[in-house]
Amino acid sequence: MSRLVVVSNRVPQPGQPVSGGLMVALQAALEETGGIWFGWSGRIDPERSGEVHEHRVGAEGGSIDYLTMDLSQRDHDEYYNGFANRALWPLLHFRPDLVDYDREAYQGYRRVNELFADFLAPRLRADDVVWIHDYHLIPLAKLLRRRGVTCKLGFFLHVPMPSSDLLAALPHHERLFESLSSHDLIGFQTQRDLERFQDYVRLFGRGKVVDTGLLETAGGHRLRAGAFPISIDTEHISTLAAAAVDRGSSRRLGESLGHRQLAIGVDRLDYSKGLPERFRAFERYLDSYPDQRGRLTYLQIAPVSRSGVPEYQELRAELEQLAGHINGSWSDPDWTPMRYVNRNYPHATLTGFYRQARVGLVTPLRDGMNLVAKEFVAAQDPENPGVLVLSSFAGAARELDGALLVNPYDIDGVAAAIAEATNMPIGERRERWQPMMDRLREHDITRWRKDYLAALRAA
Ligand code: G6P
Repeated sequence: MSRLVVVSNRVPQPGQPVSGGLMVALQAALEETGGIWFGWSGRIDPERSGEVHEHRVGAEGGSIDYLTMDLSQRDHDEYYNGFANRALWPLLHFRPDLVDYDREAYQGYRRVNELFADFLAPRLRADDVVWIHDYHLIPLAKLLRRRGVTCKLGFFLHVPMPSSDLLAALPHHERLFESLSSHDLIGFQTQRDLERFQDYVRLFGRGKVVDTGLLETAGGHRLRAGAFPISIDTEHISTLAAAAVDRGSSRRLGESLGHRQLAIGVDRLDYSKGLPERFRAFERYLDSYPDQRGRLTYLQIAPVSRSGVPEYQELRAELEQLAGHINGSWSDPDWTPMRYVNRNYPHATLTGFYRQARVGLVTPLRDGMNLVAKEFVAAQDPENPGVLVLSSFAGAARELDGALLVNPYDIDGVAAAIAEATNMPIGERRERWQPMMDRLREHDITRWRKDYLAALRAA
């Protein structure tokens, strides 16, 4: 089988365990054929971009070469903090009000994509299969083609595809999104994302939708587009959770709760996750269901993310204020309703926490998929599963229909769902959980990458 080349902004760091379902899945795909994983090194060079670090794992033939590039402060500010995370990220999450478009940042974004293309193009072979990930690297395929690359190029968008009207708010959007047509296959999380992309192609792309999954550009180039919902390593999460729940920090968490139930949320500290709305919904629950007060403790884990971007700093301040207000208003001397933690935990520990929880709160305002929702389900004890409260605006809602689906903007509705989850009888909890678990067993992360790569190889 032909060699696989993965390109993503983030690349696993040498010497550190590979964590997170996506990283593990891509690593497994690379191990099958051998290949390259290329992206940003995570390091900032005060002087200039371009220093490359090489790190080989495994034997010749099946080996993986991790190649990562340092970026200068300016390139990082413009490409990552600037255009990718202040223009594209909010836009792709349906927040044009937060878009801060800046021409210089856009130039920086293009410059880093050019640098990546310059580095990668001479290393690619005609029979390689290249899989590019996410919104940081939209122009890359076109830049590779310009440098004479002819091999298969695939793209996967991990985040939502918004409607054409929203995309049109981005200056030069046609030029940017047109570069996607240099791929052989474009993958989206859900059918809805695919449909919105097809709509964009019809309206602004000067291309046409030949039939489901087949597009033709203005220049007559044909490419495939499909929905490939990403997933998790279901069996592994289930085993990890069962092993972690009675150990270490998970056991201590259980002991600290006493007789009270646990509601848990785990999200990067990001405005797309709907955290202020969720905190308010929890407060509304405390206010509206006085008979339940003291029965449930809410643990929110929210590791700080993209702290170089002002909107994220503001969100952090807002959440600190809200959490302080809620605990100040509702605590008893022997009970604090909410625990708010900005630390990151090892994956195994989180699965133990999920298994302790009666309620999983996953209420993003928009999310491409949301793997926490899937992991929460996979981590449950089949005899005594918890209840997932899930935003209908997460891609995962299309598959996890045993969850209590909520509109995250409806504070009363989310509060009512928390109350319902807390009181749900064991029979109903099992009935809701089992079909979701069956689905996740069948559609796991291995299936995702195999389906995508088979489609790319056949494209
Ligand atoms: C989302 C994006 C990923 C990104 C991750 C973490 O899931 O789709 O591409 O890697 O967030 O964000 P960060 O900016 O820390 O890489």
